[in-house]
This record gives sequence, structure tokens and C-alpha cells, in this order.
Amino acid sequence: MPTLFDQLHETAPLVSVGVLTADLRALGAEVELLAATGVKLVHFDVMDGVFCPMTTFGPPVVAACKSRLFRDVHLMIDEPLTKLDAYVAAGADIVTVHVESTRHIHRVFQTLANLINVNDASRGVVRGVALNPGTPIEAVQPLFDCVEYILLLAVNPGWGGQKFIPSTRQRLAHLQRLRQETKRKILIGVDGGITRDNVAEIAALGADIIVTGSAVFDGKNAAANAAHMLQAVKLP
Ligand code: DX5
Ligand code: ZN
Repeated sequence: MPTLFDQLHETAPLVSVGVLTADLRALGAEVELLAATGVKLVHFDVMDGVFCPMTTFGPPVVAACKSRLFRDVHLMIDEPLTKLDAYVAAGADIVTVHVESTRHIHRVFQTLANLINVNDASRGVVRGVALNPGTPIEAVQPLFDCVEYILLLAVNPGWGGQKFIPSTRQRLAHLQRLRQETKRKILIGVDGGITRDNVAEIAALGADIIVTGSAVFDGKNAAANAAHMLQAVKLP
């Protein structure tokens, strides 16, 4: 049985849709709407108001959003080490932790390696590390042998609807070069400020997972927006 990582690697580039700007009064229906469009990943931006200015939601919301989509949990929280099992128990398929959020980042991935995916043990839990726009790419070099996914933030964490930071393009290229040197099959994602206008370009630059939120949940036509994003990332 292929692991989730194998499935993601084989089907990349993929779109992971953030629910921060979805209609939270009807979050279950919004997630089902995504599933109906063919989106495979739903992105949960967990913020604690300490690691970043905003506070959003925690494990109960992740658990409530059980669907056929893979749950991609982006932890923008301080000291995540003791909270990992709560998110995995809530059904996280991907757990992404910020390299800036703990002194013991390597231990985070040792811990995640021992947690079982509650949706399906054979999937495994995909371990991700995220970098804020101001963090040097080299910060994740010691982690290449203990993560499956590296997420580049293209905005400063805290809000949806921000502008894409242009230097992300160079950072993506730099990370791809480092990955090439390690010869490891690591997925690379880009998160923040990705809209109809730049999604095809970011996919063409080689991002494996493209995280987009307010360009899909814009309060108008999420299904059409999601379908556009899926079409736009299809490589020629
Ligand atoms: C930012 C979050 C992103 C953001 C994406 O802190 O990690 O996932 O919500 O939303 P858009 O696509 O609206 O920038
Ligand atoms: Zn995010």
C-alpha cells in the first residue's frame, strides 16, 4: 500500500486549499465543496497568537472536518513538541511545524515519526517543516533526512489575503538546488499570496504543493475558483 507521501509525490503538483477565509459557519459543507471539485488537500492554518499575531483554531476543528480530503495541518504555534499528538489524533495527514517555533526542531520530527495516522495507519504522517520569509533556507539543511515536506511561506504568517513576497521565487530555486544535492525525494510547498494570477507560474517553477486560501474562498464562487486552480497547476 503506497504511503501518503508516495501518493503526493506521484500526483504533484497539487493544490492544498486553506479554509481560513471559508464560511466557518458551514465549514463542513465548504470542505465537501472542495472534495467535489477534485481538490485532494485541505489546509488548516493553526495559529496560537504567540508564534504569529492571530489566533485561529485547534484540534477540535481539524477533527470535525473529517472528509475524503487529506488534512494538511500548518502549525503556526509556539513550542509545538507537546501538541503534536493532539493534531495527529485529530486526523492530521500532514503536520508542518515552523523551524522558528522551537529549540528542539529535530526532536519534533523524531516524535512525529512515531505517531500513527488515525485515518489509515498505512498512510503514515507526512512530516513538514516550514520557513518564514525571513528565515535562511539553510536552516532546514540539518532536517533533510527527517522530513518529507518543506513549506516556504510566501507571506508573513497570520493572515490570508496578503501579497506574494517576490523573493520566494529565488528561495524556491535555492531550496530545489539543496534538495538536488541531497538526492532525497522531499516535497516542496509554497504557501501564501497565491492567486489566479500567479498559480500557474509557481507550479511551473516546480512547487509540488501549492497552498492557496482566499483566492478560492473569496465569498463568491469557491467551486469555480478551485477548479481554476486545479487546471492552472496542470503542467504542459
Ligand atoms: C498564512 C497562512 C497561509 C494563508 C494562505 O499565515 O499560512 O496558509 O492563509 O492564504 P492566502 O492564499 O489567502 O494567502
Ligand atoms: Zn498555511
